[in-house]
Amino acid sequence: MAVREILKMGDPRLLRIAAPVTEFDTPALLALVEDLFDTMRAADGAGLAAPQIGEDLQLVIFGFDHNGRYPDAPPVPQTVLINPVVEAVDGEIVAGWEGCLSVPGLRGVVPRFARIRYRGFDPQGRVIEREADGFHARVVQHECDHLIGRLYPTRMTDLSRFGYTSVLFPDLEPGEADD
Ligand code: NI
Repeated sequence: MAVREILKMGDPRLLRIAAPVTEFDTPALLALVEDLFDTMRAADGAGLAAPQIGEDLQLVIFGFDHNGRYPDAPPVPQTVLINPVVEAVDGEIVAGWEGCLSVPGLRGVVPRFARIRYRGFDPQGRVIEREADGFHARVVQHECDHLIGRLYPTRMTDLSRFGYTSVLFPDLEPGEADD
């Protein structure tokens, strides 16, 4: 369909609490999902949330077999997750590097729950229910934060571990370090 503009940090539309999707399997919803995938792939992203392209809806996508921006990350199943609810399986917190297409050129270390359970719906309205850990759990928490107006720098606890991707990860392919 279309590669859409990704909003950048500072845009107030990234700070909204997104509205739940109320109608599934509609042409408008399926077109939005397609735009999200086109936009995420064009940017080589690991995930993307509808608010990042200015759509105020509780809809995120994520997943890849291999990702140039996170070359060491294991595969994450390609997923469309609507009206998600995320909870910690236990209290363990792990720190790990994150970037965001709305915060281009930067990476930071963010504490996240190590293991989560998440529940939501696919575009047809079928229930998705999974447990996840590792990078999969991190991506889901990052993307779902976009639905409550949170960007990862607001989750950081140690700002000394925040910097330019090209400096922190000089071995990333040129172009992969832009976002
Ligand atoms: Ni993001």
